[in-house]
Amino acid sequence: MEQTEKRIGILTSGGDAPGMNAAIRAVTRSALSKQIKVLGIRHGFTGLLARDTVSLDLRSVSDILHRGGTVLYTSRCPAFYQETGIREGARACRELKLNGLVVIGGDGSFRGAQALSHQGIPCIGIPGTIDNDVACSEYTIGFDTAVNTVIQLVDRLRDTSQSHDRCSVVEVMGRHCGDIALQAGVACGAVAILVPEVPCSIEMIVEKMQRTLRTGKRHFIILVSEGVAKSEGFGSVPELAVQIQARTGVETRATVLGYVQRGGTPTARERVLASEMGVRAVALLAQTNPRSRIVAVQHGRIVDLDLDEALTMSRPFNKTLYDIADEISI
Ligand code: F6P
Repeated sequence: MEQTEKRIGILTSGGDAPGMNAAIRAVTRSALSKQIKVLGIRHGFTGLLARDTVSLDLRSVSDILHRGGTVLYTSRCPAFYQETGIREGARACRELKLNGLVVIGGDGSFRGAQALSHQGIPCIGIPGTIDNDVACSEYTIGFDTAVNTVIQLVDRLRDTSQSHDRCSVVEVMGRHCGDIALQAGVACGAVAILVPEVPCSIEMIVEKMQRTLRTGKRHFIILVSEGVAKSEGFGSVPELAVQIQARTGVETRATVLGYVQRGGTPTARERVLASEMGVRAVALLAQTNPRSRIVAVQHGRIVDLDLDEALTMSRPFNKTLYDIADEISI
């Protein structure tokens, strides 16, 4: 018998990000307003394989708009890197009678969505990760909140660094992408911003600190993206702090901000964009023969792009902003 009722699945995958709940709410409410049923899949692709689902109605997404994390839970799913895992995922989608799947996550999650779409399951990606590292989109849900969290925390570090004439070396998240370090570094007046996209050396940092010391600067903030901190050459942030102190004579402390950057109330920007993206995702799946797409932000506008094509794109680093930071942090 032909399935007449339309039903979509939604899951969150990879690292959680503030604003994911706003996207879940938007997808659910928009779908229901079009008479499309919504099945929440808990714990990402792992939950899909386990058929760990919950039916979502209008009220099940009440009071989540302002909450960080994801009410659908999330995971990283090693089984989805295997052909057998993908085939099982596609089987689960058919068993659950899904006409399509919304995947909220980052690049890795979209690779899973792509593999599923090659098995005939239409998938729509919504970029959700604090890292801002989805190539086709200027913006990922969670990034704005994470940057604002980093700014608040670094401002506190500045108070104590200023009081003690110290240097604070701060590690922020971002995996292979320096965007959190860059934006927060500009906003916090960091004397140096270390990102994986731009080569830097300890000599360059020390030289800049010595130059600014001569002009009377007494305390310093250095932001280090985890992609740099974990690369060879620099060592860990505490090791870097020891080297800076030894070479400049400025008392230096290291702080690794860690997972505190992933939580918290989503900013207005997240909530609005997540709502817009969620509605666009449903509009795409509501089409007669939906195709797999990624919803993205380009030139400040919401667009959607072919999933396969989107995953071949690369995103240029904002070197102009990096240079601006360098020019004015003297
Ligand atoms: O992708 C978001 C992120 O927070 C990265 O910045 C970080 O490298 C990674 O997740 C940490 O992953 P996990 O939660 O698996 O430790």
